[in-house]
Parts: sequence; structure tokens; C-alpha cells
Amino acid sequence: MKPFEVYQLYNIEITRGSGTYVFDTEGRRYLDMYGGHAVISVGHTHPHYTEALGKQLGRLGFYSNSVRNSLQEKLSLKLELISGYDEYSFFMCNSGAEANENAIKLASFHTGRRKIIAFEGAFHGRTSGALAATANESLSSPFNLAGRNCTFIKRWDAETLEKELSSGEYAAVIIEGIQGVAGIIMPPAEFMKELRELCNMTGTLLILDEIQSGCGRTGKFFAHSHAGIKADLVTVAKGLGNGFPIGGVLISPEIKAVKGMLGTTFGGNHLACTAAIAVLEIIGNEDLMQNACRTGSMILDGLIGIGGISNLRGQGLMIGFESEDPDLRSRLLFEKGIFTGAAGKGTIRLLPPLTLSTEDAEYFIASVKSLLD
Ligand SMILES: Cc1ncc(COP(=O)(O)O)c(C=O)c1O
Repeated sequence: MKPFEVYQLYNIEITRGSGTYVFDTEGRRYLDMYGGHAVISVGHTHPHYTEALGKQLGRLGFYSNSVRNSLQEKLSLKLELISGYDEYSFFMCNSGAEANENAIKLASFHTGRRKIIAFEGAFHGRTSGALAATANESLSSPFNLAGRNCTFIKRWDAETLEKELSSGEYAAVIIEGIQGVAGIIMPPAEFMKELRELCNMTGTLLILDEIQSGCGRTGKFFAHSHAGIKADLVTVAKGLGNGFPIGGVLISPEIKAVKGMLGTTFGGNHLACTAAIAVLEIIGNEDLMQNACRTGSMILDGLIGIGGISNLRGQGLMIGFESEDPDLRSRLLFEKGIFTGAAGKGTIRLLPPLTLSTEDAEYFIASVKSLLD
């Protein structure tokens, strides 16, 4: 047997990581401006993280959700404090798609409605419900397309949104804090406020997918907090575990839990909670949201005016731009030892660890300049 091939791979094997760097089998060092797809939030092998996980593994790796696990309470409290989402409850699962799946399900249970709204360019995951809200039919099988209950609306089209929501048929609107897979596309704050208002007026729940844009990446814990709004359900994953699989849904106190409504074997297990607690402690102790703002602004300022770059955009350490050179991503990797992300041809996505240093940012800017100018 061999692994099912799902992605186009670079022929590089990463065997070690430290801070913002990863190392391959030959010992070559790479600057990780990709964060393993926005997953590495507090840097590779952070000592507080590895120590906490090592200790927990030596004590207890797993026990079932049929008994109390105080680590779940500790994690929920830390998440409340860092996110400002007071009084919400937290359902823990294992991935981003699963978090969205459960959020959609909860919205439908709560409202008794069947349909949801998502936006042009949206990516919410590859399980059935999350995929139904993903605006890319090529990812869906005939099974997934049958009986799809999602309406897609053009980006930030408040007029159509109002018309659809006034039907009273929708359980929820789901939207990314910043669209990631689509190439770092930020919904305007005014639109987010209008969206919140329209949901309130029509009894529709607002689901904010912060799986890629959350956990401090944009300089606030959640990207939508920049618009000064709150959602009814917020989904998290990726950066919360810094590589340990964990996902979750922050749930409004208006939505009451009914036993058996949701469930999971692995969600909220001892190792996952330990990883996420350590991540939140590091983000707080090391002022990583402030660092994301500072180094993110440095990169945006540093890239402005470099020939061959256009449509530079982003917030904190979630940055995108178009390059005239379609090979820039490979050249950064093989000529400069820098991992970056992509989003379609020619679009570069930066999602580095929030521990990125000034020197790292300077090296990245100088590398792009030397390849393009
Ligand atoms: C915004 C967003 N939502 C959901 C997902 C799905 O997360 P996962 O791959 O953990 O299922 C992703 C993954 O890239 C994402 O970027």
C-alpha cells in the first residue's frame, strides 16, 4: 500500500523545525512564511508547547468524553479571556471542516431552518456540510451536489443578501473572517456590520469561520473583531493547536445545548486541550498579536513599490499579493530557502508563525526584491 496522492508535492522532506525555521533531510534550512498552511501559530517546537505536551503524554494521552476532563474547562476559560467572547460555550472537535459542520448543524437545530448562505470564493472544508458552503464545485462529488442547501451570493452584495434573508428560510450565513483559500480577500468592515444587522433582523444566525484568519493572525484574536461585531457561532482550528489537530465552535449563550445534539470521540482529548492551552498561553505571554501587527505592517510597507508585485493586501500576518513572475513561489523556495503559500496562479499567500522576527521579515522582503527588481 502507498499513500493516496491528494496534492502536488515538492520533493522536499521536512524532518525538523525550530521557531520560524524548518529543516530538510539534507539539513537545509528554510524560513517558514507559510506556517504549514496557517497552522504553526507559536513557532515550531516552542519549548513551552513541547514541554506541556510531553508531560501530558507521560500522564495520560486519552480518555473518553464520558467522564469529566478539567482541561476542557481550562481551555474554554482561556479562550473566553483571549477572544472576549464572554459567556459563550465551546464545543471541541478535530478539524476545521468538522467545526463548520457542527456550527451549521447547530444553526439548523436552533432555527429549525434548512438552508444557509455562503459567499463567492468561500472555502469552508471538505466534509459534506462544509463542502456545500464551499464555492468550488470541482471539489464536490455528485453525492455532495445532490440536495445542496446553500445559496451563494456575490462578495459583499448586501442588497441580494437582504432579499434572500428576508425570505426567513435561512438558518445561517457563513463567512470567513478573511477569505484565505480565495487569496486573502477581506470583507469590508461596513459590510460585516450590515451583515450582522440583517441576520439580527431576520432571525438568521451568523457563523464566522476563523479557521485560517483566527488565533491572533491578524493582530486581533479574530479577524472579524476588527469590524467590531460578534458572531453567534465562531469556528476555529489550524493555529489553535500549532500542529496538534483540534477544532472547535464558540457557541452563543442563546443556543442551548441538548444532550446528544453533538458528539465526538476524539474532540477535546487531553493532548489536544494541552496543546491549545499552551498555544493561548504563549500568544498572551509573548504578545504575539502585537508582533503579528508589527511584522505584518513591515512586510506590507517593504513590498510596496517592488516592481512585478501588484494587489498587495492583508492584515497582520495574513498577506497576499500577485506576482508577475509565475515561478516566484518556487524561486523563493529553491533560490532563497523560503516557504510561501499559493492561491491560484501567480498569487502568493503569507501565513507565517506569529513569532516572525524583524530579521525574518527583512530577509523575506530583500529576497523578493532581489528576485523581482
Ligand atoms: C477558512 C477555512 N475553513 C475551513 C477549512 C478546513 O479546515 P480543515 O482542513 O482543518 O478541515 C480551511 C482549511 O484550509 C479554511 O481555510
